[in-house]
Order: sequence, then structure tokens, then C-alpha cells
Amino acid sequence: MGGSRHPRALWWALLVLLAEGRADAAAGGRGRSNIILILADDQDVALGGMTPMKKTQLLIGQAGASFANAFAVTPLCCPSRSSILTGSYPHNHLVRNNSLEGNCSSPAWQKFQEPYTFPVYLQKQGYQTFFAGKYLNQYGDPKAGGVQHVPMGWTYWLGLVGNSKYYNYTLSANGREEKHGALYEEDYLTDLITNRSLAFLQKFSRTPFLIVLSPPAAHSPWTAAPHYKSAYRTITAPRDGSFNVHGKDKHWLLRQAKTPMSNTSIQFLDNVFKARWQTLLSVDDMVEKVLDELKALDLLGSTYVFYTSDHGYHTGQFSLPIDKRQLYEFDIRVPLLVRGPGIKPNQTYLEPVLNIDLGPTFLDIAGLNMSQSPMDGQSFLPLLVNKEQRDGWRSDFLVEYTGEGCTGKDPQCPTLGPGVSQCFPDCVCEDAFNNTYACVRTLRPHDFQYCEFADTQNFVEFYNLTSDPHQLLNVAKSVDPSLLEQMNQRLIKFQACAGVSCHF
Ligand SMILES: *[C@@H]1O[C@H](CO)[C@@H](O)[C@H](O)[C@H]1NC(C)=O
Ligand SMILES: *[C@@H]1O[C@H](CO)[C@@H](O)[C@H](O)[C@H]1NC(C)=O
Ligand SMILES: *[C@@H]1O[C@H](CO)[C@@H](O)[C@H](O)[C@H]1NC(C)=O
Ligand SMILES: *[C@@H]1O[C@H](CO)[C@@H](O)[C@H](O)[C@H]1NC(C)=O
Ligand SMILES: *[C@@H]1O[C@H](CO)[C@@H](O)[C@H](O)[C@H]1NC(C)=O
Ligand SMILES: *[C@@H]1O[C@H](CO)[C@@H](O)[C@H](O)[C@H]1NC(C)=O
Ligand SMILES: *[C@@H]1O[C@H](CO)[C@@H](O)[C@H](O)[C@H]1NC(C)=O
Ligand SMILES: *[C@@H]1O[C@H](CO)[C@@H](O)[C@H](O)[C@H]1NC(C)=O
Ligand SMILES: *[C@@H]1O[C@H](CO)[C@@H](O)[C@H](O)[C@H]1NC(C)=O
Repeated sequence: MGGSRHPRALWWALLVLLAEGRADAAAGGRGRSNIILILADDQDVALGGMTPMKKTQLLIGQAGASFANAFAVTPLCCPSRSSILTGSYPHNHLVRNNSLEGNCSSPAWQKFQEPYTFPVYLQKQGYQTFFAGKYLNQYGDPKAGGVQHVPMGWTYWLGLVGNSKYYNYTLSANGREEKHGALYEEDYLTDLITNRSLAFLQKFSRTPFLIVLSPPAAHSPWTAAPHYKSAYRTITAPRDGSFNVHGKDKHWLLRQAKTPMSNTSIQFLDNVFKARWQTLLSVDDMVEKVLDELKALDLLGSTYVFYTSDHGYHTGQFSLPIDKRQLYEFDIRVPLLVRGPGIKPNQTYLEPVLNIDLGPTFLDIAGLNMSQSPMDGQSFLPLLVNKEQRDGWRSDFLVEYTGEGCTGKDPQCPTLGPGVSQCFPDCVCEDAFNNTYACVRTLRPHDFQYCEFADTQNFVEFYNLTSDPHQLLNVAKSVDPSLLEQMNQRLIKFQACAGVSCHF
């Protein structure tokens, strides 16, 4: 990493050496497995989001386990990332949206939630912890401690200020501001995260370690590396079962979408789809380089590597051009691949696992007793290393979301009233204050989704995914009322659950 051409890298090395001295003071934990989490941004699995990730599928999926039913409990960056960090549903970590007022990286989050995030537990267990990339959307805001705030639990911290970017961004390198321009060789964020993680592994790592790598891909502004800008020249977004279909029996926000979409919307979303895949190619390279380095250091056999995303994404489903924030499969399903000690190659699991299960799984790997943490999720390590545990696994879970809106009118869309947001392109809105909902998603013995909205209609949606995998038909009005009643009771219990009471 040295060389006089990279003075910033030297600074980083110095800071890491200083931090190393502090970390050595922490005792215990030796002999436990290392953990690496690679967390993509906005990467769907339902619309082929893993297709560009050939090396990742081979090196993690085929070398280990793939979860065919992995879900985010909330489909928006900051609440979902807060769920990953705390292992808890949003009604317990209280991060409602992507803004400071909604507790995204807010002073209240730092005081009341950050002390219970998984790196804190692992560091206490003697793990050396390393973070690089996007943390929470408001990280680094002057009203929340600026770049000087290094979240608890991290020995080495390289946090991106604000939301995903590929160039022209600011990092906090262990609390010190590090500004970057737009030169591919020095600044492309996905590659920079890869390079810093390799340097950490080569020069500073001491086992056991936890590494979290959080690249900006496939989030907007979708800037690919120069050598990937010509990839997927002819690809378009999939015209799947719900593409350009009007959500006529769905809640208000879906009904305001325009069907058929305008040609400009379709062109726009096709370009976004292509650019998303191009940005993911650099994440695929990251996975290969990190695994090559583990192999070179003889650490492959003692390291668990997890690959996932914060939530899904849509491009044209139900005539919503681009975004996440919806309760449907494309937005809540995520990729989840794991390799590591005791995991047999090429296993596919059908059990529903959640983003809130990652924290408990990491604690389990570190040998911690879960009942001493307030996390709502459950460790899926027993599923991976001991098949007998499979029978008692959960069959349903909660999805909850608080809609974002604007209090004023959108100047670009004078015909729209207040209360909506993300009305782009063509003034079709992707969110609204009343896109606030809670759902029970159950996979066994029936494949159902039941959702209640906090809007003026107390709108209800119900899908039978066995007969209707694309969720085209809301059967809330025709299904047996006693079934709705059962689902409503289940939802009420979930919305009040905390810790072990979420495991019923
Ligand atoms: C933000 O978090 C604090 C403390 O955790 C809580 O008191 C507050 O109600 C939360 N805000 C919202 C909007 O949920
Ligand atoms: C980065 O910032 C420079 C200077 O403001 C600007 O000219 C350039 O277009 C920006 N590049 C990107 C990719 O944002
Ligand atoms: C990452 O390292 C590679 C190989 O040394 C180098 O070619 C590339 O320019 C580096 N990129 C960044 C953003 O540091
Ligand atoms: C939109 O695209 C369709 C199919 O490509 C084409 O038939 C139609 O003429 C286009 N409409 C406009 C207004 O450009
Ligand atoms: C995993 O399964 C695929 C498809 O069945 C096969 O092509 C591949 O060789 C297998 N890989 C390993 C590592 O067993
Ligand atoms: C975990 O802690 C609880 C409560 O302190 C205790 O009852 C339980 O036996 C512990 N479990 C293990 C596996 O140590
Ligand atoms: C985020 O949540 C806070 C607290 O509920 C709310 O005041 C704010 O309006 C929300 N922001 C958006 C963009 O919806
Ligand atoms: C949802 O909010 C929008 C924007 O404020 C409003 O126009 C609409 O009537 C609301 N719909 C329901 C069902 O609450
Ligand atoms: C769901 O669909 C399956 C397959 O068509 C059907 O057998 C089952 O009765 C349906 N369940 C409900 C509650 O409609």
C-alpha cells in the first residue's frame, strides 16, 4: 500500500498502526473463526441481480451455501442497515427513514442503539474489527458528530460520509477527514474499499477478525468503472409478470402510477438496469480479490464469508420506474451466500432467513451467548453446520416500513399535492407518507403475504404466492375472513415483539 505516490495511504497505514496498539490491549477470543461480510447496496435477487456476479456465485455460493429465501425486514437503506447492525426490527431500533429526524445515524441512534451493534459484541470478544464503505445514509453529518464520530465497535474505520457515491466523496479514516476526487486509479470507491481491505489483511490483521465491506454498487448514481462501461450493451430490464402492469387493486401509491409507462420512463429504467449490472462487476472483482488474499494467507479454512444486500430493487414492476420501498418480493428479497468452516459446498437452503439474523449469526460464530443480547433475529449457523436443527426454524416474519414524504409541493411536478416523494421520472411517485405498512410474510405451510396500511383507507393487501407468484391479484376482499383475522392477530404479535418474543 506504500509508495510516495499515495500520501493518503501512508496516513491510513499510520492510523492503523496506532489503532493496532489499542486493539492489542483487548484480550481473549483467539482461535475463533474470522468473519467477513460484503454488503451490496440496492442489489435485488428477484430480477437477476446476481447474474453479473459469476465469480461470487462460484467462490461463495458453490463453495458454500445459498439461501433461496433471504429477506430484508424493511426495504430502505438506512432502516435496513440499522436492522443488520442491531439484529432488530425497525420497531425496536426506531430508525424510520433515511433522514436524521427519522433517526438515521442520529445522536439518539449513536447513544441508544450503536452500543448494541454486532461489532461491539465481537470487539469485546477479542475480535479485531474493520469497516470500509457506506454505513448509514446520514453518517458524517455535522449535526451527528461529523467525521469525528467513529461508531462504537470498530478498531479500523473507513466510513463514507452520506449516501452512496463512486467519485468525489469524503471518508472518515478513523475520525480524520479524507477527501477524494474523480480519478479512476485513485478514487473509484468500490476498488478503494477492495484495496484497503487487502492492505488490512496483508499487513495489519490479527485473528480473529471481523471485516465489513460496504461498496456503493448497485446504488445510484450507477457509475461503472471505465473498463465496464461497455458491458451488457444489449441488455434491458426483464419484462417479467408484473412489468408495466397497473396495480389496480393495490393501495393508493400503486394506483397513481401511469400504465403503460411512457417511453422515456422505459428508456430510463432500461439504462439504469444496465448501469446497475456494470457497477456490480467491480463488486464481483472485490469478492475474488478478497478470497484470493485469504487463500494466499492460508485463512480460507478459518473464515466465514457472507455476501448479501441491504434490500432489493425494481425496474418497471407495477409501472413504478425505479426504486425500492415497496412490500413486494422484488424489493424485500435479497441475495445471501455464505462459505466457511463446516459448511458443505453447493447447498441451497429454503428456510426463510432475515437481515436481522446476520448479527446473531456472527455472535454465534464468536461463541457468544445470544440470550445476553437484545437482538430480535436468530443465528442461522445451526442450519449451516448441523442439519438436524432445520425442523424448528421459523416459517414467517414481519416486514415493516414507514413511508417518506415531502411536506411541500414538488416544483418539478406542479400537479401533485404534498405528502409524496421520489417522483421521478415522469412524476410517478415511489413513496408517500401513507406508504406506511406492516406485513406478515409466511412461507410454510402456505406461501402468503398479508399487509395493513396506515392510510385513510386502512388498506389491506393479501397475496397467495402459490397461485400468484408475481402478486398480481390482491385477494383481501375474497379470501376467507377468518384467514384475514388469523393474519391480523399474527401481525399484532409481531409488531410488539422484542428479542426472544420475536421467535414464536
Ligand atoms: C429516535 O430514537 C429515539 C431513541 O432511541 C426515540 O426516543 C425516538 O422516538 C426515535 N424517533 C422516531 C421518529 O422514532
Ligand atoms: C467531480 O468533481 C469535479 C469538480 O467539481 C467535477 O468536475 C466532476 O464532474 C465530478 N465528477 C464526478 C464523477 O462526479
Ligand atoms: C487498487 O489497486 C490496484 C492494484 O494495485 C490499482 O491498479 C488501482 O488503481 C487501485 N485503485 C484504487 C481506487 O485505489
Ligand atoms: C413508444 O414506443 C413504442 C414501442 O417501441 C412505439 O410503438 C411508440 O410509437 C412509441 N411512442 C412514442 C410516443 O414515441
Ligand atoms: C455445484 O453444482 C453445480 C451445478 O449442479 C456444478 O456445476 C458444480 O460443479 C458444483 N460445484 C461444486 C464445488 O461442487
Ligand atoms: C445463556 O445464558 C442464559 C441466561 O444467562 C443461560 O440460562 C443459558 O444457559 C446460557 N446458554 C449457554 C449455551 O451458555
Ligand atoms: C422521517 O421521519 C421523521 C420522524 O418520523 C419525520 O419527521 C420526517 O418527515 C421523515 N422524513 C421523510 C422524508 O419522510
Ligand atoms: C395518500 O397520500 C396522498 C398524498 O398525501 C393523498 O393524496 C392520498 O389521498 C392518500 N391516500 C390514502 C388512501 O390515504
Ligand atoms: C392458494 O393457491 C393454491 C394453488 O392454487 C390453492 O391450492 C390454495 O387453495 C390457495 N389458498 C387460498 C387461501 O386461496
